[in-house]
Amino acid sequence: MLAPVRSTSAPVGIFDSGVGGLSVLREIRVLLPREQLIYFADCGNAPYGSRPDAEVQSLSMAACEWLIGQGVKALLLACNTATAQIVAGLRAKYPKLPIVGVEPGIKPGALASQTKKVGVLATASTLSSTKFQTLLAGVREHHHCEFLCQAGLGLVELIEQGKADSPEVDALLHRYLEPMLESGVDTLVLGCTHYPFMDAALHRVLAQRMRLIDTGPAVAKQLARKLEEHHLGANADAAEGAPVRIVSIGTVAPLRGMVQELLRLEAVYSEISLA
Ligand code: DGL
Repeated sequence: MLAPVRSTSAPVGIFDSGVGGLSVLREIRVLLPREQLIYFADCGNAPYGSRPDAEVQSLSMAACEWLIGQGVKALLLACNTATAQIVAGLRAKYPKLPIVGVEPGIKPGALASQTKKVGVLATASTLSSTKFQTLLAGVREHHHCEFLCQAGLGLVELIEQGKADSPEVDALLHRYLEPMLESGVDTLVLGCTHYPFMDAALHRVLAQRMRLIDTGPAVAKQLARKLEEHHLGANADAAEGAPVRIVSIGTVAPLRGMVQELLRLEAVYSEISLA
């Protein structure tokens, strides 16, 4: 058993390039209502998914180290793109800190598919990463499943602009998903934490012709397991639903809209610069 190294009352740090990680934060709030949460976004530099690897690595590392500097007891990379690029390096540098990452749910996708044809929608950076390609090769071989991978170019930009439910998103989804439907794909892995916010558009475009795989609930459970393993879960007498601290490089405007209108959470906001 591991000895506790941090206080149970310290916050959990959650990082994403922008609003996407809020889709995971929503699940954490339901499962772990007593945890204090700091959400750090880099709205000034999002999206990350079409940037070169070296840029994603340095931006993500700076953001995560800012959260670590706040004394978080655990860190969640609620971003597939950042996880693919830095989670191994981060774990090597901070071996005592519980760190949870996210990756496209291609194994649950393979298990759920009847046709054994699974679509994966993720950022270009995630899809081309060594981490994802290694995962894909293993699952493909083991589950005898075909994967159709598509970069969701333009989607994150629209979601950051508050247009997750819009004709522009519908048009991109038609373009990306129709070829998958024609190939017999019956299951779609949402490989970017921004995408669950397109639920209305996805249901319109797909009309239930594909099952959707979102790893948000599984990631929240993984965080709960890590906290327990490290004896770091919030005390039973801690208050539920404390305001979430939301911090962004550049503007917090996209986050404010999502947190207030969609998640209906109390929050305190601040804008910072890491330069
Ligand atoms: N939400 C992120 C992900 O899960 C990244 C989006 C982006 O910045 O491109 O990959």
